[in-house]
Amino acid sequence: MTTAGDLMVIRPRRLELPVWLIVLGLVLRWLWRGLWWCVRHPVSVGLAVAAVVLYREFGRSGLIVPLVLAGLVSAVWRWKHEASWWAWCAGPVLGRCRQVFVYRRAWREAMTLCGLTRTYDHRVVLPRLLRVRSDQALDVLTIRMVRGQTPEEFQRVTANLAYAFGRRHARVYSERPGEPPVRTGYWAMVLGWVDRLRYRDRPSLVYLVVVRTDALRTVVKPFDVPSVPDFTALPLARREDLRHWRLHLLATHVLIGGATRSGKGSVLWSLVRALAGGITSGLVRLWVIDPKGGMEFAMGRPLFARFACKSFEAMADLLDEAVAVMRERQTRLAGAVRVHTPTEADPLVVVVIDEMAALTAYLQDVDLRKRIASSLGLLLSQGAGVGVLVVAALQDPRKEVLPFRDLFPTRIALGLTEAAQVDLVLGDGARNRGALADQMPRWAKGVGYVILDGTPEPARVRFSYISDDHIRELAAGYAAPADAADILAQVGRETADEPNRKPLPRPRGPLLPDSLLTFLDRDADGGEPR
Ligand SMILES: Nc1ncnc2c1ncn2[C@@H]1O[C@H](COP(=O)(O)OP(=O)(O)OP(=O)(O)O)[C@@H](O)[C@H]1O
Ligand SMILES: [Mg+2]
Repeated sequence: MTTAGDLMVIRPRRLELPVWLIVLGLVLRWLWRGLWWCVRHPVSVGLAVAAVVLYREFGRSGLIVPLVLAGLVSAVWRWKHEASWWAWCAGPVLGRCRQVFVYRRAWREAMTLCGLTRTYDHRVVLPRLLRVRSDQALDVLTIRMVRGQTPEEFQRVTANLAYAFGRRHARVYSERPGEPPVRTGYWAMVLGWVDRLRYRDRPSLVYLVVVRTDALRTVVKPFDVPSVPDFTALPLARREDLRHWRLHLLATHVLIGGATRSGKGSVLWSLVRALAGGITSGLVRLWVIDPKGGMEFAMGRPLFARFACKSFEAMADLLDEAVAVMRERQTRLAGAVRVHTPTEADPLVVVVIDEMAALTAYLQDVDLRKRIASSLGLLLSQGAGVGVLVVAALQDPRKEVLPFRDLFPTRIALGLTEAAQVDLVLGDGARNRGALADQMPRWAKGVGYVILDGTPEPARVRFSYISDDHIRELAAGYAAPADAADILAQVGRETADEPNRKPLPRPRGPLLPDSLLTFLDRDADGGEPR
């Protein structure tokens, strides 16, 4: 009997299991887990089984001989073809080791302290590390995000993640970094299908690239001069993954933002070097403006078709003439093509401007400044399609200094002085996505951030360093042809004729709809429709 106020303790009935059943359950559970692990790691299991079998058959030599043989094969492979050795042998093995011994061990702590865990149903949920792939310089971690997370949350803590795993640099990509390989030959179709599956869009994954060995710490030697430059892929810099960063110059304008002494000169000279083959063959004309009185470019004068470095009038004239060339091409090419293809008769004109702010902001002559601004505006808004391109470098990317910032489709940010300037150069949100151009260490001359084709995330690159000797060599070996400055002679060329137009078929009846005719009639008759 209970009465009001009595304390009632309700205990659920406990199911008492016999001990042997509990032990059996635990054993079965561990067996199942072990079996599942074996299914998921066939290579490790196969190697372990082979090692045991060999040891039982041949004793210790059964282990030593295969190991020595494998080492020899690996050494020869690396010697003969290092790229495939990294891709198929060293990369996967190193990745697996680093996954187990580096990343897994610190995973929970790193995720928690970087604020990437969530609590759900009183449980802490962690992003899952699925795979680690290594190459010579990078570890690429494939991570499954917690439900409800976005890649931006990882991008915001990119630096924290790098330091959490004992490195200085990392990058977070929302899509698998790298492009699918180009397949040719017998198996191309089948491998193409495999690639399509491997590179399919997987929105629940995020890729963390940890820079294991910083390939950009050493100065990058100048690249070989291509005899026929590919304007869609000019090698200018080294990427963190040791590959070349190639600039797509065709039909774009390039803006280089960098504080003083950050290495803007090496970007411009790397570009000149990459184009040098085309300069001698007549495919490219460089029109160079160097407002520093020739300090940067005078040494390479023979390479340039036009050069202005002392008088600002001459610079304004040069820009006006570039507009004239652009106008002539527009008239001639209208209706024929939409993007100009450089030829010897119709070369690519690249207007290179160092210290652009000297022309757009610091020039005291207001009339001249306005003239320059209007030519630059025209070139930047209409020149790309007809092969009159602008490549400009400047220190201060603010709107007051460079009003045309948004007209440059391709941007490069070298070391900058303020965090806000990074977004001004590379576009909104670039710093949050990992372009820490304002935190460039002192040694990082010529290191910058660029946006790669097809990925929104910026990549870190180091431009090749072109010394004075290299410039002299270039000037001696790749001088512009004698008639290079003469491109304006083309401007007087006949423009295309008016096309023959077919007469439009005229409709027979009235040209206006009935309702409108009735309305007009009513208006004419002073009210009543007829
Ligand atoms: N890619 C590079 N690798 C190594 N060192 C470099 C690189 N580029 C430039 N440097 C060094 O950095 C210094 C500054 O370079 P540079 O004159 O090109 O900078 P800048 O940005 O053009 O400076 P300014 O604004 O004064 O013109 C130079 O002494 C040069 O030796
Ligand atoms: Mg400079």
